[in-house]
Amino acid sequence: MRRHSLAVLPGDGVGPEVTRAALTVLDAAQDRFGFGTERTEVPLGADHYLETGTLLTDDVVDQLRAHDAILFGAIGSPRVTPGILERGIILALRGAMRQAINLRPVRLYPGVPTPVRGLTPQRCDLVVVRENTEGAYVAQGSRVHEGTPAWTAVQESVNTWYAVERAVDFAFRLASVRRGRLTLCHKTNVLVEAGRLWTAVMDSVGERYPEVETDYVHVDAMCMHLPVSPERFDVVVTDNLFGDIVTDLGAVLQGGLGVAASANLTFEPDATSMFEPIHGSAPDIAGRGWANPAGACLSLAMLLGDLGEGEAAAAVEAATAAVLADLPGLAGEAMGASTHDLGERVAQVLREGSAPEVEGSLMVQLAQVRGMMGR
Ligand code: IPM
Ligand code: MG
Repeated sequence: MRRHSLAVLPGDGVGPEVTRAALTVLDAAQDRFGFGTERTEVPLGADHYLETGTLLTDDVVDQLRAHDAILFGAIGSPRVTPGILERGIILALRGAMRQAINLRPVRLYPGVPTPVRGLTPQRCDLVVVRENTEGAYVAQGSRVHEGTPAWTAVQESVNTWYAVERAVDFAFRLASVRRGRLTLCHKTNVLVEAGRLWTAVMDSVGERYPEVETDYVHVDAMCMHLPVSPERFDVVVTDNLFGDIVTDLGAVLQGGLGVAASANLTFEPDATSMFEPIHGSAPDIAGRGWANPAGACLSLAMLLGDLGEGEAAAAVEAATAAVLADLPGLAGEAMGASTHDLGERVAQVLREGSAPEVEGSLMVQLAQVRGMMGR
């Protein structure tokens, strides 16, 4: 039997609730598709930090390296100064594991309410490939004369050919197994230096993928096009900060943060990819069963695709989409069921195999691209 070892990081707030729901779905996927997992829970997050004073230690990183994938809930707490846990755990993990890409689908599933009037599933199926280790997210910067009128802050953005090429190459491969379109999203009219490098990488890597059509959109224009004409886009590749911003907008298109999923992918042989719903820890609703587990379930689907369990990945996606389509509302009491119950429901649909197949599943495409890259 195929076996995969998973590190499970439930984290804070609603993280443990949605993660538990996703694991119920994983149980059902294993039964149906005949593979197994060993799961090790790793206690990272606010409680652990407040008890021990530690964030992500080298020992924990080494422990995580030994796993095939990390299933992540959410991190962040009002009991800890903002930024400490985010930088010390999430960003530290992305860096330590060299998770080069943050893959964020923007897909509206049939029957899911979107705030964008007139938007249909046919028109909303794109993927953002966000560079995940550099740009404005590098822990660089300096300040002088703090607290005086001369207070000066320098916060630069770092762009290396190496990291940009990894992201762009992955984006081309993904476009080549999708609809064959890749858009670079940047701000080359203002961030001229970074823009030159990104454009040069696009041109250079593009020579290897003549079948993929490319274009370019400024990030501000992207925020206009996304709600109005998302059908313009297939794969979008962009820098870390722009990707952070446009994917929150993308999440809204597909029904809100509760539905959006992400994959932090590494290409290093001794490192581990991490799969997390886009939503945060939502401490205000924690413990009430009000969080939508769809983002966590769809992140699990990407995890399975990445491990080469393409069939299971597609089935988890289909079952999640089917359950979403039947919900009266997408979060809180409006869902008409608890986080736990929705996990059970997705698991049940999965066991029955009753959900209609999702066409052009990103989860399957991910398995294809990872296969291409020899993993
Ligand atoms: C995300 C989040 C993180 C980011 C924060 C929590 C550090 O907003 O995953 O999009 O900025 O990348
Ligand atoms: Mg974000």
